[in-house]
Amino acid sequence: MRAFSTFALAAAPLAALAGPVRFTRRDNANNILVLQFASVLEQLESEFYTQGIAKFSDSDFQDAGFSSVQVVTEQLTTIQGDEEAHLSFLTKGLVALGSSAPSNCQFNFDSVLTDVSTMAATARVVENVGVAAYLGAAHLITDPQILTAAASILTIEARHQTILNTMSGVGTPIPQAFDIALNPNEVLAIAGGFISGCDLGVPANLPLTITTQGTPSIGTQLSFSWTGMPSDISGFNCQMLVGGQVNTISLPLSQCIVPEGINGAVALFITNDTQPLANNVVLRADANNIVAGPTMAFIDSNPSPLSQIVRTGVSSGASSTSTTVTESQASSIAASSDTSVSAGPNLSQGTVEGGSIEVNGWTNLNSDGSISS
Ligand SMILES: *[C@@H]1O[C@H](CO)[C@@H](O)[C@H](O)[C@H]1NC(C)=O
Ligand SMILES: *[C@@H]1O[C@H](CO)[C@@H](O)[C@H](O)[C@H]1NC(C)=O
Repeated sequence: MRAFSTFALAAAPLAALAGPVRFTRRDNANNILVLQFASVLEQLESEFYTQGIAKFSDSDFQDAGFSSVQVVTEQLTTIQGDEEAHLSFLTKGLVALGSSAPSNCQFNFDSVLTDVSTMAATARVVENVGVAAYLGAAHLITDPQILTAAASILTIEARHQTILNTMSGVGTPIPQAFDIALNPNEVLAIAGGFISGCDLGVPANLPLTITTQGTPSIGTQLSFSWTGMPSDISGFNCQMLVGGQVNTISLPLSQCIVPEGINGAVALFITNDTQPLANNVVLRADANNIVAGPTMAFIDSNPSPLSQIVRTGVSSGASSTSTTVTESQASSIAASSDTSVSAGPNLSQGTVEGGSIEVNGWTNLNSDGSISS
């Protein structure tokens, strides 16, 4: 399903926006819906940090292993200020387009503001989803000026992502050369549980929960639950989406083992066939085999010294209590599960035979500038 196809165009008396960006196009239905969607995510982010900063004391941050309370609170406060500035910008932009930012959403973070570690882990998801949401909405924006304005927000969200990766204590600040993009319905599968009281006009994918105990790492066998999950899980696949790859890694759900080669954020989906999902967010919008997800996990296979300076005493996934197999076992299961799809992550990128570019699913872009169908 293509989100945003049914939004009614608001008649837009266009006013000049203060500052350098002017919204001047009349065909603004998708632009408005994208900005409204973004504004709700910014409300969510701003509210999350405001509540988190207010709730925890210096000693809570110390107990969570941060080597400097000042460093972590300064970063969280800066991030909160950025989200508020983004929200203010989007709100003005929507008014300029003759619309408004939704104001009736409520946000509940009770389940994740239980302690500093859970808050920090959730913040990491929030920023990765923020980046994924702006990236995934880019193709829906029809006005180049609005696209540029959204991109200027995206780059800041990506910096937040890096800070939160670092503050995890076990992450890599910049784990991949490419980020994951998610469609709005995919974003809502992850973020929707925090939001109530407003209808964004975007259908949400079914939320997916990882039920594996402990922190997943390479070799961890992942288990899941979703509403309506049958007891017989044969016929379902887990799909691991990693930035920069052409397709997801597709594995039988009963053998959903994290293979070697992954570091950083992974978006996990459940499908009802073995067909890998396209990384290309435009193509994936038409996927008809997604049953649930995505949910987001971090596979911290390469803890950075920088991360460990900022925060100590955090155990990486290697010491988790979840079911694990060795890395070579994981790779051989990945390799044997379905020979018709790529065996495990192929992290190489570049041009393939014929000169077409094979990264992020751009398999139809040729080096001579033509686009094959
Ligand atoms: C697979 O899941 C999709 C999305 O939920 C659904 O539309 C489709 O009917 C399912 N196919 C089968 C064979 O169950
Ligand atoms: C990985 O991808 C590259 C470029 O897309 C390709 O040339 C290479 O053969 C692939 N390697 C494997 C093991 O599939």
